[in-house]
Amino acid sequence: ATIIVMNGPNLNLLGQREPDQYGHETLADVEALCIETAKQYGHDIDFRQSNHEGVLIDSIHEAGRLIKEGKVLGVVFNPGAYTHTSIALHDAIKGAEVPVIEVHISNVHARESFRHHSYISPCATGIIVGFGVQGYALGIQGLVNKLS
Ligand code: DQA
Repeated sequence: ATIIVMNGPNLNLLGQREPDQYGHETLADVEALCIETAKQYGHDIDFRQSNHEGVLIDSIHEAGRLIKEGKVLGVVFNPGAYTHTSIALHDAIKGAEVPVIEVHISNVHARESFRHHSYISPCATGIIVGFGVQGYALGIQGLVNKLS
């Protein structure tokens, strides 16, 4: 099956953006890591990034349809700053019944207090925080172990 890996706002800047927080690897490097990890389990990756909340919501709805058709296993999702603001993404995940592994590159709990709350966590299947970009690989492994 396919695993959808979704990235929210500003993650297209990965590698150049606050390297102390997020490291030097680019989003293209993360995509390669995800493809390599999924391949070990015989799965494919559909890798996405958007800076737009509505586009991310549409992707969650599409994931819900593809899961019901048996084409997609679930979603590994780094929602970026929408984590801390988006009731709409929370509702989309619930409404479309999509298994989501929430991933954060940095340890959000060791940072500003506005990063401590997540609207995504209550509807996430699992959460991976603070392991750098390796968290995406851990997210894929966790999703596969839990769902296939
Ligand atoms: C992030 C953490 C968020 O607080 C931040 O807004 C991001 C990236 C992370 O991966 O650590 O954009 O989701």
